[in-house]
Amino acid sequence: MNVNIENTEAPFYISKVRELICGSHLKVYVFTFGCQQNEADSEKIRGLAKAMGYTVTDTADNADLIILNTCAIREHAEVKALSMLGRLKSLKQNKPDMLMGLAGCMAGEEHNVRRLKSDFKYVDFTLEPNSLDKLPFLIYSALKDGQRNFIFGQDTGDITEGLPHVRQSSHRAWVSIMYGCNNFCSYCIVPYVRGRERSRSKDDILAECRDLINNGCREITLLGQNVNSYNAECDFADLVSAISEIDGDFQIRFMTSHPKDVSDKLIDVIAKKPKIAPHYHLPLQSGSDRILAAMNRTYDKQGFLNVVRKLREAKPDISLSTDIIVGFPGETEEDFNDTLDVLSLVRFDTVYSFIYSPRKGTPAAEMDNQVDKELKSERMSRLLELQDKISLEASLAYENRVIKILIDSAEDKDGECILKGRADNNKLVIAKGREEMVGTYRNVKIDKALAFNLYGTIID
Ligand code: 5AD
Ligand code: SF4
Repeated sequence: MNVNIENTEAPFYISKVRELICGSHLKVYVFTFGCQQNEADSEKIRGLAKAMGYTVTDTADNADLIILNTCAIREHAEVKALSMLGRLKSLKQNKPDMLMGLAGCMAGEEHNVRRLKSDFKYVDFTLEPNSLDKLPFLIYSALKDGQRNFIFGQDTGDITEGLPHVRQSSHRAWVSIMYGCNNFCSYCIVPYVRGRERSRSKDDILAECRDLINNGCREITLLGQNVNSYNAECDFADLVSAISEIDGDFQIRFMTSHPKDVSDKLIDVIAKKPKIAPHYHLPLQSGSDRILAAMNRTYDKQGFLNVVRKLREAKPDISLSTDIIVGFPGETEEDFNDTLDVLSLVRFDTVYSFIYSPRKGTPAAEMDNQVDKELKSERMSRLLELQDKISLEASLAYENRVIKILIDSAEDKDGECILKGRADNNKLVIAKGREEMVGTYRNVKIDKALAFNLYGTIID
């Protein structure tokens, strides 16, 4: 069910916190680990904190409220968050009134919540991913009564609409359209920490997009753990189509898609609507049918290649990127070679590759055929060697072409203004220009291409 923030306890606790901290000029620092969904959630966490009377700061040192928005997708992400938490301990010792909390996927894992409660006494609260509207209560309870709260398992399956945002950029925006995941890929922790799929209503999404575009936003990225399984009053293809009908000079991107949900109807919409960026991020994970079945991915190598073929037939200039997991339990040399084979066949512009990391509570972590650490690293190096070559060749194809870039930032370097933006394929483009070009689309002729960056000249 979708509920409006007005119908939750949040406004009551927001006003209570405002009363408590009124005139104290308190500051909030939010640090984000992980994916775009977390970036989007952090914008809401900052929005709620601002509504409570905090000012947003970008350093932990002068903050009165610190929230780490964490990621649990791989062990490394958790280790990073816990070590940052360790470093922040001294800040709290010097400033006992400061509040510290953990949000995001780690706050959705019971063993981590227990550990934080018992071993990290200076942590005041954890906040589950789908319960952002509980933040004002947690802050109030900590400020007023010195209460530590470690809420777990209270995700009701609702979506709270109307949460305030402090957006990071005025020209690029994240718009979450669905939350959670039902796929239970056997390696993945997401369905356990973010709950079952739920979609926002089409009208709420369209209203948010219209508002963003009317306020000068030039690029909207629709977010969801399985974005193309969006299903409310319409399906994903209809939703993207409706957003692309909004008046204005803007582009639409979306992530992350599951190959099983790339319908012919969606491919048709992508081909026909010029406002949809010609880029598709389509996680393959493995090229081996055997491993794909063990991963519970529900497609095989040929099925994936068919989707790629249809996308390219419908939109020949589309750039493709993917995610690969190296060293899933039981992965043999032959399985791994199947993955390399798909990379050679498809020639993705960009590949995000990850060494398999066992996640407690997922079926793959219990499999007894775990791949040796050194072998995983060795396979990863081979994959990178192949893909770096392909990525460079894909980049070189851009040399001397004119492409449209959304300019993100300007920096003074030895008296020259250096602009950075993203090409359709998400590659970083660097060109000289003027500061007022930030937030605008410009045509850039690409002079030189490296594997990950393109260097160009602005021609208008
Ligand atoms: N180990 C390594 N990589 C993982 N991913 C998800 N779970 C794991 C895991 N346990 C990768 C997948 C996914 C991306 C966001 O992270 O490739 O698409
Ligand atoms: Fe994880 Fe699979 Fe869901 Fe993606 S589709 S979030 S990899 S379970």
